[in-house]
Amino acid sequence: MTQEYINPDYVAEPEKVNTKKGLEGSVIDTSSVSKVNPDTNSLIYRGYPVQDLAENCRFEEVAYLMYKGELPNRTQLSEFEGLERSYRDISKDNLGVIKALPKKCHPMDSIRTAVSFLGCEDERIWDATPATNYDKAIRLLAKIPTMVAADYRFKKGLDFIAPRKDMTLAENFFHMCFGKVPDAQVVKAFDVSLILYAEHSFNASTFTTRVVTSTESDIYSATVAGIGALKGPLHGGANEMVMHMMIEIADPLKAEQWMLDALAKKRKVMGFGHRVYKSGDSRVPTMKKYALKMADLSGNKKWMQMYESLEKVMAEKKKIYPNLDFPAGPAYYMMGFEIDFFTPIFVMARTTGWSAHIMEQAASNRIIRPLSEYVGATQRSVKPLSERG
Ligand code: COA
Repeated sequence: MTQEYINPDYVAEPEKVNTKKGLEGSVIDTSSVSKVNPDTNSLIYRGYPVQDLAENCRFEEVAYLMYKGELPNRTQLSEFEGLERSYRDISKDNLGVIKALPKKCHPMDSIRTAVSFLGCEDERIWDATPATNYDKAIRLLAKIPTMVAADYRFKKGLDFIAPRKDMTLAENFFHMCFGKVPDAQVVKAFDVSLILYAEHSFNASTFTTRVVTSTESDIYSATVAGIGALKGPLHGGANEMVMHMMIEIADPLKAEQWMLDALAKKRKVMGFGHRVYKSGDSRVPTMKKYALKMADLSGNKKWMQMYESLEKVMAEKKKIYPNLDFPAGPAYYMMGFEIDFFTPIFVMARTTGWSAHIMEQAASNRIIRPLSEYVGATQRSVKPLSERG
């Protein structure tokens, strides 16, 4: 019996099967973390437009906003950053686990494993009071970049670089990966990407973290599940696929024909389309602006020329527009990151949104347990093995 099997005697009752495939259009719960408005192509985090946050705040301020619901004042930010910086180190054992992973395993599998190990190390794992979960959320924010950077170094056969406490989260990440901090404009572009990637309502990975939390499981288990969901190319994995695609195209002059061929073959083009936005992703103009800055700074305009060409053909032929992964992919590439670390960088950002949703779910919980409509074989009796031939 295949997965697609439908009992020939099954009679669909439309009033029973009232959900849409992929939960399209289904409102699952209320949330005060963020709102995606497809009619106005806008996204707000706790009331603030994401473009304004990206231009005026650092990622740490947005992380605080996610957890606390308000932007911090100077004193609150300094306390918050002090705590975050003090949590950046990871244990020798966790470093050992990351180092022991097969060199070829994907960095998303590494970060999933390292976060899982972090949960094993936390003696307060079952303590899910709001204060403890807030503290754990800051630990995840602080330690995930260290884990990702450690994996980055080990996969290249290089030594681990310990985190610095006198740098912002973005600066410190560059320091831990490359041993130096680039031009302030590169750091700003990276910080902007973290803000834009921080949160996006009930997307697949966030919904996953809420489902896990709804069983009264712990924040690490929910985060590990979120990482698993984010890894897929239809979700966070798309930023890596975009860059692989651009490398495959190789020449901006070939981009138009490549897109026409891809559409003729009904190929899914990574970095385009969205379940909620149908006329453009609110985060794209800001990220595109910073990707163009990276092209100016690096003196390599090739990827953004290709970007323009692919975007134009897709809009003309299909009226489908880029999502955030489309500008983020080439932007990270121009910053010097290896392609398979693009989605782990997304994890560094999205841990803030996940933790906000985990805390919101825990504060007003009911186990998430939907129904399905059974279309399988009608009830039958079990024959003993001896009678099954
Ligand atoms: N390339 C080509 N066609 C696309 C497309 C893409 N990236 N995204 C959507 N479409 C087309 C579909 O083929 C479908 O056409 P049809 O009605 O002729 O069959 C139509 O647009 C609707 O797409 P659908 O797959 O039903 O949308 P969805 O809401 O189920 O999926 C995504 C949304 C994001 C998963 C989907 O657009 C996609 O796979 N995009 C590429 C991966 C990606 O960039 N993911 C990151 C998301 S932020």
